[in-house]
This record gives sequence, C-alpha cells and structure tokens, in this order.
Amino acid sequence: MKATLEKLRSSALGEIDSSGDIAELESLRVRYLGKKGGLTAMLRQMGSLSASERPAAGALANSVRADIESALAARLKGIEASALSEKLLREKIDVTVPGKRAEAGHRHPMSIVLDETRDIFIGMGFAVAEGPEVELSLYDFDKLNIPPNHTVREWSDTFYITEDESVHLRCQTSPVQVRYMEAHRPPIRIISPGRVFRRDEVDASHSPMFHQIEGLVVDRGITLGDLKGTLNALVGHLYGEGAKTRFRPHHFPFTEPSCEVDVRCVVCGGTGCRVCKGEGWLELLGAGMVHPKVLAGVGIDPDEYSGFAFGIGVERMTMLRYRIDDMRLLYENDLRFLEQFE
Ligand code: PHE
Repeated sequence: MKATLEKLRSSALGEIDSSGDIAELESLRVRYLGKKGGLTAMLRQMGSLSASERPAAGALANSVRADIESALAARLKGIEASALSEKLLREKIDVTVPGKRAEAGHRHPMSIVLDETRDIFIGMGFAVAEGPEVELSLYDFDKLNIPPNHTVREWSDTFYITEDESVHLRCQTSPVQVRYMEAHRPPIRIISPGRVFRRDEVDASHSPMFHQIEGLVVDRGITLGDLKGTLNALVGHLYGEGAKTRFRPHHFPFTEPSCEVDVRCVVCGGTGCRVCKGEGWLELLGAGMVHPKVLAGVGIDPDEYSGFAFGIGVERMTMLRYRIDDMRLLYENDLRFLEQFE
C-alpha cells in the first residue's frame, strides 16, 4: 500500500510538472483526484487494512492528496503566467512609430458655391425644396405655360422616359415651382437646387447634365424691385460688394416680364476680354415675375398675389467665381484640379 501510494505521488507530480496547458492539467486532476481517480481507488482499499496499519496509510494518503493539490495549483499559476507574458509579448506596440495621416477629402467647387448660396438664401428666410429629376411634361412644360407646340420644347429637347414624351428628365428646375405652389399657400419663399438635363453636346460651356438653383417668392405686393434686391444681395455675397449686375429684357413663358441677369465680367472688370467675349458682361441667370397664368393654374389668385422666380446655373456661377474656363473640368474628377479648392 505504502509503495503504491508513493508511486502514485511521484508519477502524478511528474506529469503535473510537465503538463503544458490548462486542459491537460484538468484531465490530470480528474485522473488522480476525481471520483474514479487513482487516489480515490486507493482510499477505498483502506477498509481491507488491519486497524494498526490504517492510521499510517491514511496519513500517507492525505499527504499524497495535499501534494498533488498544491502541485496542480502551482502548475496552474505557472501556465497562466507564461500565457500572459506570451500575450504581452505578442501585443507589444511601438508607441514611437509615426502615425498614419488621415487624408480628409474636401468639397467640390460646385458644392462650395452651392452651400454658400444656400446659406445666403436661408439667411434671407428661404426654405429649401426638392423635386423629382424624372418629371412629367405636365410640370416641366404645360403648367409652366408652355403648351404642346411651343418652340421652347424644341430647344430643351430632353431625354424621354416614355415614347409619348409625357415623362422625361427635367430640363429645368422650374417644375418645382409648380409642385411647391400646389402643396403650399403664400407666403412662399423657396430655393430648389438640383440636376437638370438637356440634349446638348459636351463642350467648354455645355453638358447634357448640369445643375440649377430655382428660386420662388410669392406673396402680396411682391415686385420686380424685390427680385432685383434679392439677386443683387446674392451677387454681392458671391462676387464681392463691388460686383455690378445688369437686368436685360428676355422671354420666358412662365414669367412676365422676364429678364436675364448679367454680372460685370469678373476677369476684365468690364473692359472686354476673352472670358466675356469682349462684352464686359457675363450672363448669370434667368428670372422674372411669375406669370399670372402659372399662379392661376395652381389656384393662387393673381389679383391678390404676385411673385418672382429665377433660375441660376450652378456650373456658370462656379466658373465665374473661380475663373474656370472649361466646364468639363468640373466633371472630370482630376485631383490636380480639385485640390485647388481646399
Ligand atoms: N428655367 C429657366 C431656364 O432654365 C430659368 C428661369 C427660371 C427663368 C425661373 C425665369 C424664372 O432657362
């Protein structure tokens, strides 16, 4: 009995000492100390010993158990400590390595101009409205006082969605005027920026897709003076207080009277140059007083209310602002160009 217990102790301590991980240690614990383990089996045999042999054997069995238990605990500590130091070694970081610079992007020049324009109008009490890019002819033409055979429909020949030409990509942001007036009663003060489409060939000043900002104000007693004041405020903000505007008579079916607004050439100051083609003025936008027929069409009484509207080309505004002489630069996403506007 004594010899067997000693053997059990030395083999258990040896195996525990050389065990490599927690799972292995646990299976050793079960094998030696568990219910079906070696030591338990030995204790069961105690009964067959004589009364004089029993105390010594019992004491030995207890000391074997205590040795195995403390060996298990010590080995467990050892395994945990080496796992920790391995982990620390693996996760060591060098805090002196230089960091990676986060390359922040920046806004496209048109976004800069658009954001500024939006701020200027919001400051004057305007709301921002949006409308669909796929539009009904009903809104892009008919309700804007452009009947089926009107010549305007030819120059704005657009991209048709349906064969009967009743649905197409909008060729202007003006249909948002109608949509907004159908849903809201005066006083109305909105701008509506967005994409528009026309069947134009790409060149230095044309693109089949470009951007406009529509403006609409409807209330009692609105006059052409309000239109001029509003647009002069915009031009002053964008091109400096000294910027001069010129209101030139024009025709749009949905405004009466209508005008085009030019700004004194930002490059030559009005003496005439290549950019303004010797004119001294650059065309900026179309505008006018909302046509009584358009107001009546959305159920706003033209005898009680009046309004003005305008449509600005965002590309043109941006090109004048930054003196960009080719519109294609705005779409090519060439970083050498874009990085100049940080
Ligand atoms: N929609 C016109 C265009 O695209 C511009 C415009 C808007 C004119 C509002 C008058 C009033 O040319």
